[in-house]
Amino acid sequence: RPRVLSGIQPTADSFHFGNYLGALRQWVDLQESYEPYFFIADQHAITVEHDPKLLRSRVLVAAAQLVAMGVDPRRSTIFVQSQVPAHSQLAWVLQCLTGFGEARRMTQFKDKSANGGEGAASVGLFTYPVLQAADILLYRPHFVPVGEDQRQHLELTRDLAQRFNHRYKKTFRLPDPYILKATAKILDLQDPTSKMSKSASSPGGIIELLDPPAKSAKKVRSAVTDSGSEIRHDPEGKPGISNLLTIHSALTGRSVEDLVAEYAGRGYGDYKGDLAEVVVDFVTPFRDRTLELLEDETALAGILADGAERASAVAERTLADVYDRVGFVPRV
Ligand code: TYM
Repeated sequence: RPRVLSGIQPTADSFHFGNYLGALRQWVDLQESYEPYFFIADQHAITVEHDPKLLRSRVLVAAAQLVAMGVDPRRSTIFVQSQVPAHSQLAWVLQCLTGFGEARRMTQFKDKSANGGEGAASVGLFTYPVLQAADILLYRPHFVPVGEDQRQHLELTRDLAQRFNHRYKKTFRLPDPYILKATAKILDLQDPTSKMSKSASSPGGIIELLDPPAKSAKKVRSAVTDSGSEIRHDPEGKPGISNLLTIHSALTGRSVEDLVAEYAGRGYGDYKGDLAEVVVDFVTPFRDRTLELLEDETALAGILADGAERASAVAERTLADVYDRVGFVPRV
């Protein structure tokens, strides 16, 4: 079966609607017909200053959320990046194939290092996309389900794969991004010109899956809407209401046109009240299930240990090919 692989950083107490609609929902869907590898990118999470205690707890909360939303550990290999050392090992080899200027062109590095300036950013933040390329290439996946913000990293991944294959010998598959157009970029509820983001959104702009449902309902009801009063899908002219329609459509499975027809002539307040209910109905059982799973940390750790073992078997085979091809002498 063709493979899929993707990862998510454990950088907040909860995943948010951008993560869910942009990527995680596709993880759940794709596990049915692909051989799936999904991981928690804890090594990427230390590229900026972090609290070790929080990181430790967030990895388990991340695992619980994945299982609660339907990533099935019997079907999917779910693991933690740092538990599979081949990721760092391949990353080194790929760093030696990456141009300095090529790495510098990564827009996420530019964005993330914007505050303190390049000098304040870590080298880890700079080489972050190369580690991501290693994450992916080790598993030779066909598809990588992600949101739009990861597209450039996927392009670098393909470039590095091609360069390695060309310079040494065909070793890596060139993976395709799997990005669903409708939900590729979920926007900030308070600033619908930028994406919903763990690091950049204001608390009111981001719906966290594990927030108390009443809090999320309130955020939906206070979402920024646009001038005028008509409910229609027009991302340019009406980014606020269009974003809500996107979320609404994704959560209910109803088409945007259908929703627009239903709400014709009704006010923003009315509409947001209804969407708030849809959101509450979605997050309530998800949150309950996550909290229930978190009561048995041993079971969660077991799922991750199992996943790391299966992932390592695949990753180590690829790494052995790579080491051989670059000329590293094996230990006898
Ligand atoms: P991360 O942890 O920031 O986000 C996880 C996934 O959520 C998607 N996403 C969004 N999609 C739509 N709208 C949004 N507002 C939104 N915000 C986030 C992201 O695109 C991503 O798919 N570098 C990655 C983690 C990673 C990875 C990998 C991914 C590390 N190695 C290998 C794929 C393959 C990241 O920081 O995602």
